[in-house]
Amino acid sequence: MIQLYWKNATSKVVGEHGISPQDLATIEPKINNALETVLNQCKSGRLGYVKLPTHPTYAAEVKALVEKHKDATDLIVLGIGGSALGNIALQSALNPATWNLMSDRKRKGPRLFVIDNVDPAAVNDVIKIIGRRLKTTVVNVISKSGETAETASQFMIFRELMRTKLGEGFAKQIVATTDANKGTLHSIAKADGYDMLVVPDDVGGRFSVLSQVGLFSAALCGIDIDELLAGAQAMYERCQNLTLVENPAAMLAAIKYVMTTEKGKPMHVMMPYSNRLYMLADWYRQLWAESLGKQYDRDGSEVFVGPTPIKALGTTDQHSQVQLYREGPNDKFTQFIEVKKHPKDIRMPDVFGDVPGLSYLRREKMSKLLNAEKVATEYAMAISQRPSVTLKLDAINATNIGEFLMLYEIATSLMGEMLGIDPYDQPAVELGKQATFALMGRDGYEDMAKAIRPFTRLDKKYLS
Ligand code: PA5
Repeated sequence: MIQLYWKNATSKVVGEHGISPQDLATIEPKINNALETVLNQCKSGRLGYVKLPTHPTYAAEVKALVEKHKDATDLIVLGIGGSALGNIALQSALNPATWNLMSDRKRKGPRLFVIDNVDPAAVNDVIKIIGRRLKTTVVNVISKSGETAETASQFMIFRELMRTKLGEGFAKQIVATTDANKGTLHSIAKADGYDMLVVPDDVGGRFSVLSQVGLFSAALCGIDIDELLAGAQAMYERCQNLTLVENPAAMLAAIKYVMTTEKGKPMHVMMPYSNRLYMLADWYRQLWAESLGKQYDRDGSEVFVGPTPIKALGTTDQHSQVQLYREGPNDKFTQFIEVKKHPKDIRMPDVFGDVPGLSYLRREKMSKLLNAEKVATEYAMAISQRPSVTLKLDAINATNIGEFLMLYEIATSLMGEMLGIDPYDQPAVELGKQATFALMGRDGYEDMAKAIRPFTRLDKKYLS
């Protein structure tokens, strides 16, 4: 189970930089309104992502495909943004970091490569490492729109590789996750005869981790997707609670809203004290940035809102970022993530008993040191009046990760309501996508190509 601990975000601990009882009383009507709106959207079925944990067929369809590919040695996921970050977060949280280095016999699923860029060196590296294992490799191409340039280019390369090396049956080893009825990828998948999974129409990319987008790679790599979905559903139910302090998503959103608007803290750091949870912070970064960074509110007025999500890793970034977090501008709000029982532990040996600077460590568990450092950082930040909350996980398991994902998705919806913006669109991403089409010579983008031309010429005057 996940719990939100928020004492260190209060004025009691961090003075004027924290939330006072008065701040809470002031924000309560606003968060209550936001909650009412979001719960109404849930009830009327308009909020697609909250329906995913109890969808009647998605998980079963995924399991059927997993059974079909249970002997695969490698899985390559092609996608970007919301079509990749959830897959990466689930794999890193719930499987060991050494997964791809394990022998096929030891691993309980295929090696996983999520190619979420068009870096030619990275793509070549994966092709090379797959080598002759291509005949036991599954490619899962994921794109809701079916036309994203990055995913399309990755797909063209891997499809051709499989077609030429594997011959006729290549299509059996490709799974396309895309719109159920339309789109370029949908049409190709139909024509080639791939197995297909669905990105639901009413679920945006960055909210899609609990759909078939995230479930297939997770399940094939041995993650218990029933537990994942059960955790998400349990959090969804907890977030129906109308009492603010008993509703973790409402509380989290309320604190983040006050920090952003009243306390001058638009920088929202997520700092897990667990390597496994670091990529969850990456997932959060996209969810928060793309959903809440908006120029216009729902009425069309210019607002330029959106807290900046930042990821950091404890303890590593104590030796990199914490100097800034404690003594730099007091513009940050930190969300620590703490794990009570880590997936594996290790004890320091009984050595150096006579070395005063080291003897305190002998025979201690490493998890004790990690968690002590988290409390130490929390304390040091509080002393400098830097507010924080902690997401407390009793363990890292699929249930808790499901809870975490749903908690942040609902908090994002609530924050969007409070800011008065639409958290489900991403208009600012579109211009870059279209400019790429223009630069790459796609038909219909000729005017845009003209507009971009000055940016393609190097003005040597400005070269230093
Ligand atoms: O959250 C989003 O909507 C985006 O990050 C998309 O997931 C990303 O742009 C990829 O889009 P698509 O799945 O259509 O290829």
